[in-house]
Amino acid sequence: MPKKMNLISKLHQDFVIEKIQKTDWAVVGSESPLVVELDTTEACDLACPGCISEDMMKTNNRFTNERLLQLGKEFYENGIKGVVLIGGGEPLAHPVIGDFMAYLGEHDIHLGITTNGTFIRKYLKQIAMYSSWTRVSMDAATSETFKILRPSKGGRSKFDSIVENMRLLAEIKQGKLGYSFLIQTPKDGPGLVSNIHEIYQAAKLARDIGCDYFEIKPSYRFRDGIDHALMVQNETLMSQAKEEIARLDDLVTDDFSITKAINLDFSLEGRQLVQPKDYNTCPVAELRTLICPSGVFVCPYWRAKEPFRIGDLNNHSFSEMWHGEGRKEVMDFLNPSKQCTFHCLRHESNLEVINIVRAINDGKEVDTVDEFDRFI
Ligand SMILES: C[S@@+](CC[C@H](N)C(=O)[O-])C[C@H]1O[C@@H](n2cnc3c(N)ncnc32)[C@H](O)[C@@H]1O
Repeated sequence: MPKKMNLISKLHQDFVIEKIQKTDWAVVGSESPLVVELDTTEACDLACPGCISEDMMKTNNRFTNERLLQLGKEFYENGIKGVVLIGGGEPLAHPVIGDFMAYLGEHDIHLGITTNGTFIRKYLKQIAMYSSWTRVSMDAATSETFKILRPSKGGRSKFDSIVENMRLLAEIKQGKLGYSFLIQTPKDGPGLVSNIHEIYQAAKLARDIGCDYFEIKPSYRFRDGIDHALMVQNETLMSQAKEEIARLDDLVTDDFSITKAINLDFSLEGRQLVQPKDYNTCPVAELRTLICPSGVFVCPYWRAKEPFRIGDLNNHSFSEMWHGEGRKEVMDFLNPSKQCTFHCLRHESNLEVINIVRAINDGKEVDTVDEFDRFI
């Protein structure tokens, strides 16, 4: 199913429609969100040049061990359905991440993990048992390319040990395992090289490891005053990328799929993304939120951006933050039609929630489907 369709159908799951119905859309924070994206730490053991989180990682902030474990309890008490360990730094580098993942799993909070893969072996059991999906950022098919794009802080390549970690996980995992490939070229920043010639080889390796999917993604950079602007790459390299990507279908089996990120085709064609928004509030920001050690933010697009900081969970409970004045002020200030000039992955979701709310208010029937994915 195409990703966009999938995001829309996810909103029609029973538990989401129920939440939309219960929410008082005229009031900020009338209901807790369904999904939390969480940066456990802003520290990372890798030093990828041009990392999207480079600026915030200078701080090495992290939640204290006690606070992270307490947060798990607060998520449960607030009815959070899914937690995505997303980054900032490396989410699995947090000292009590194993206990945290086990707590979520034992309390039926679904877990998704975006990781550089270096700590998988250390938490193999918890990840295998409790993670619904684990997506390992690889961006290469060889240790040589990996060493340039994703070096350790000491400049070494951890490629072979990460591949080994993924093989171990593939053997025993309950959830899905993905191999993520971010297209990089010298235009992405100083010291970077093209990894395009390794796309097919990387997908083949992913299948050989026992991954369930290979995801190919374009990069984003700050450009023309827009954070997260889609990178405009060199035309010749994009032609090469198209050839590599066209071959990927040969690798598809019943157990192995290829996922193309939503904006990949725009990037391959060198097209600009235009996404005007004609709504003044962000309904999805009532259903999902981003928690970092340095603050809670409206969403990942506004990570570490002060005007969009809705609270601080070092000093407040989740509930105090979510229902507090600070968050209300930011949500009243937030205006997607003016501020969200980037291409937002949740734009169609916002339009759909607006339609669903309208239908409910008009007393119309809304289609529902059984739960199939907590990560709306
Ligand atoms: C910042 S990392 C943090 C999580 C974890 N340390 C990891 O390596 O997956 C999260 C994701 O951001 C992606 N990323 C980094 N820089 C990017 C950029 N400039 N544009 C798009 N994605 C980027 C990486 O490929 C990775 O999959």
